[in-house]
Amino acid sequence: MLRTLAAVAAIVLLGACERAGPAPDNTNAQAAEAPAIAPILTGADAVDTYSYARPREARVHHVALDLGVDFEAKRLAGTATLDIERKPGAKEIVLDSKGLEIQSIADGNGEALAFNLGEAHETIGAPLTVALRPDTKRLVIRYKSAPDAEALQWLTPEQTAGKAHPYLFSQGQAILNRSWIPTQDSPGIRQSWEAVIRVPAPLTAVMSAPRAAEPLTQGGETAFAFRMDKPVAPYLIAIAVGDLKFRSLGERSGVWTEPAMLDAAAAELADTEKMIEAAETLYGPYRWGRYDLLVLPPSFPYGGMENPTLTFLTPTFIAGDRSLVGLVAHELAHSWSGNLVTNATWADSWLNEGFTSYFENRIMEAIYGKHRAAQEAALSFDDMTKALKEEGANAPTTRLHLPVDKDAPDGSASGIVYDKGAIFLRTIESIVGRERWDAYLRSYFDRHAFQPMTSARFLADLRANLVKGDKDLERKLQLDRWVYQPGLPDNVARPDPRAFAAIDRAVREFGAGAAVDKAAWDKWNTAERLRFVNSLPRKLPMPRLDALEKTLGLNGIGNKEVRFAWLDLAIANQYAPAVPSIEQFLASQGRGKFVRPLIKALAKDQTWGRPIAVRAYAKARPLYHPIVTAELDKLGLLGGKTS
Ligand code: BES
Ligand code: ZN
Repeated sequence: MLRTLAAVAAIVLLGACERAGPAPDNTNAQAAEAPAIAPILTGADAVDTYSYARPREARVHHVALDLGVDFEAKRLAGTATLDIERKPGAKEIVLDSKGLEIQSIADGNGEALAFNLGEAHETIGAPLTVALRPDTKRLVIRYKSAPDAEALQWLTPEQTAGKAHPYLFSQGQAILNRSWIPTQDSPGIRQSWEAVIRVPAPLTAVMSAPRAAEPLTQGGETAFAFRMDKPVAPYLIAIAVGDLKFRSLGERSGVWTEPAMLDAAAAELADTEKMIEAAETLYGPYRWGRYDLLVLPPSFPYGGMENPTLTFLTPTFIAGDRSLVGLVAHELAHSWSGNLVTNATWADSWLNEGFTSYFENRIMEAIYGKHRAAQEAALSFDDMTKALKEEGANAPTTRLHLPVDKDAPDGSASGIVYDKGAIFLRTIESIVGRERWDAYLRSYFDRHAFQPMTSARFLADLRANLVKGDKDLERKLQLDRWVYQPGLPDNVARPDPRAFAAIDRAVREFGAGAAVDKAAWDKWNTAERLRFVNSLPRKLPMPRLDALEKTLGLNGIGNKEVRFAWLDLAIANQYAPAVPSIEQFLASQGRGKFVRPLIKALAKDQTWGRPIAVRAYAKARPLYHPIVTAELDKLGLLGGKTS
């Protein structure tokens, strides 16, 4: 099953990237095709401080996993076979690992190789250094993941919708996959991969790659085989195992989820095929074959994760009216921005998330029209404004190219990385015109397909292919100001003031003491309701909160985004009638974006909120993912009793 390499071609490729400065654009001829071994960047701007790998000396280019899933021990166990490329004379290769139990390492002929597991850093884990013999091209690592591996969440049957079977899922971004795969876990080191996964029957395994063979059940176990022949950043390798069923949504798309969720998930995702078509019309062919989605149990810590060929989604996006499918457009857009052209380091994650947020909005516009897209863009502008205010407009954390912080590769404000990033691109669009901008962006994805990207490379590419020496345009764009300076440049494209004219009027009227207009609220869409709740004064007298809650039924509202916006306001006002709703919300889902701010706000309020936080967290913690509990445990709510 493992693929052999044209060694000569590989060495030539590696050699080509050894030159100083940004790596050459070596893809123009066969832009759309994935290269056999993806190039790495060697400039100072591409050094990944969250990985121990030294890819210029020796690098992994293919990973083959053969793993058993042990729900009792909460471990994945088996082998990872790594195909490597190395500089002549390289004596060792350095991999990333976190909490892995390494049992043995051998070469392709079964000869043992010496290895050393270095000291572990709290976030980035430990370097796994393997001694290479002159002819070593392959490593076979026998290992087990730890029961508390951060990338993995093991759910008991009670924590699933069906209550009958256990469930496992992984979350790799940003630097968590090293807790279950011993490889070079850096987004600039692309690797093709394959896997054989053995699970207890009757469970189903899915991964972020096409199936390579029909599943085979034998002796109470089913083996599933997958193969991703395109080189991907290793954070994009993902797995889920559970009682999963599939329903087709269109020619190349479908949804996986637990049986009890299938109808609701499929209905909410009915526009998926249209979205793929809209995305292709905008920025070129979808290059990954199928686009399937997996709707996870409520403990999934993110809204979505763009795992190639299989987006992972929170069930909290199911609102019954497709009002939150911007999330789907977002994860789909990552099939270009992120999965095809990938940030080389996490300091440039705006190249993934900002581009994707911009692209998301263009898909939304193509399908649901200009008005809805303008509204969502205006909400995004609000999020950016809020982040600038919270961080401080001159804070280095408001730059798109972020300062290095060893403790938090993905701890930056989403209002900057996502929203300021998208607004930068919208600003370019407004200056050069949509037609020219779209043509540029489409060619950008072609030129850099299956390659890493940095801020510096993007700006160089933009200058070479869009600005083309036009001094006036260069001055108008303020490119370096946007990417490297904090705050907001004065050429920013502002949202359409008409997007929420009626809502903003209603906010002013409410502020002036008017009654809550239930009939108006009933007609508003989700974006309008969010704008309304989020624009209300942060401090309100009790009778005004009562009027809102009683008239609009906010404590019981089903739409999770609106519910969150309301509960956030309620907590800021110590609004007691919302407490049961807060506790129910916190115990029913574990999406970090919702539970983190609410629990933190409660915990900070020493007199009123803290006891509620203690009670709610004690009850909900078993549901939450390690990514979320790692942060919330620091609040000390449970007095150290967290296991
Ligand atoms: N790639 C992100 C999720 C992510 C970010 C995981 C950083 C780990 C570290 C995903 O595409 C995403 O952005 N999800 C958003 C939804 C989106 C609509 C803004 C989320 O999870 O809320
Ligand atoms: Zn994203």
